[in-house]
Amino acid sequence: MSYRPFAEVEPAPPDPILGLTEDFRNDANPRKINLTSGVYLNEAGVNPVLKSVKQAEKMWLEQETTKDYLGIAGEATYAQIVQQMIFGPHHPAVREGRIATVNTPGGTAALRVGADFLRAQFPTATIRLSDPTWPNHPGVFRSAGLAVDSYPYYAPESHSLKVQEMLAALERVPEGDVVLLHVCCHNPTGVDPDPEQWGRIVEIFQRRPILPFLDFAYQGFGTGSEEDAYAVRAFADAGLNLVVASSFSKNFGLYRERVGALSVVASDAGESANVMSRLKQTVRGNYSNPPAHGSKIVEIVFGTPELRRLWEQEVVEMRDRIREMRRSFVQTLKKHGLKRDFSFLLRQKGMFSYSGIGKEAVRALRENYSIYIVENGRINVAAMTGANMDYLCRSIAAVLKE
Ligand code: LMR
Repeated sequence: MSYRPFAEVEPAPPDPILGLTEDFRNDANPRKINLTSGVYLNEAGVNPVLKSVKQAEKMWLEQETTKDYLGIAGEATYAQIVQQMIFGPHHPAVREGRIATVNTPGGTAALRVGADFLRAQFPTATIRLSDPTWPNHPGVFRSAGLAVDSYPYYAPESHSLKVQEMLAALERVPEGDVVLLHVCCHNPTGVDPDPEQWGRIVEIFQRRPILPFLDFAYQGFGTGSEEDAYAVRAFADAGLNLVVASSFSKNFGLYRERVGALSVVASDAGESANVMSRLKQTVRGNYSNPPAHGSKIVEIVFGTPELRRLWEQEVVEMRDRIREMRRSFVQTLKKHGLKRDFSFLLRQKGMFSYSGIGKEAVRALRENYSIYIVENGRINVAAMTGANMDYLCRSIAAVLKE
């Protein structure tokens, strides 16, 4: 009998988001609709390569002279772009060299590098996540060995922020712990604090020895690229140390290229250099150095004024289409006679909405109509189109009336 070390391996449960996308791909129903994973689709129901990206790729194909490794942290030009996008070009933290930025394979790896760094430096810290949060957040932080807990965030009855409970919970977070906040387009609820509420949140961090870890995956998909950076700049303007995971998956449509960044804002350039050395150590022991293609596209678009203008316009188009789909979804549900008021969707921002559709209805929509929604009721509005809207709303109305 040969050695069978894997005989006892139990199968893992499917991923709550990407597992459903796999099921969707295997579904033969021609009317199937995938509202699970946060991927932008155009009116034709296709995830497009942005025109600005396509042109930059053509330029890069001509210019590329080597496939040598990038440095462990990636290119300095890329790090500058990331910092300027997040903090604004003239932010003192950028000017004073207080930010350590590493190019990571997507926003998820940024979270993971951040998690590994925190676990190594602050082994007893707990990270606190909003309730609810992106279902992959607990997995990423637990895999790094960090303890995970939550703070109140969303009130399903009123479809709004539980602001008092959230602030009270932040007052009670033990010293030395870490709090993860979504900068904009909260995933999964689409509900963000307003500037006044952010002010109250930042004020607590100014008084208390707790570290903000900001997840910034949807810049440009809320109100605008600058407006969406409000919260992260409020933290940085307050002179706070913070950690930011960011991503170009959505706003550049570079999902499969895996292009993101982790930025740590420290108190001075010396501290930031020390942090950088630790981030590099983490990266080296994990994936060694980042892939080059996606970050190069971002560099070319930012370095070519006409491509940058084109890209900015394309982000506006994506954002406007998502808003239009929100309006159309609410109207079409009404047209199909649904009594339940879905107008709260119009107040939510970004790709996602917490629809309030319960587990049973989610299952019925999948099994009877081939409409795929995350079990918690999160829907990706950016996957709705003029062509699938009627079937979608008719099916939801049928299931919710049953
Ligand atoms: C999502 O939440 O659907 C996206 O961030 C994609 C993912 O990796 O889950």
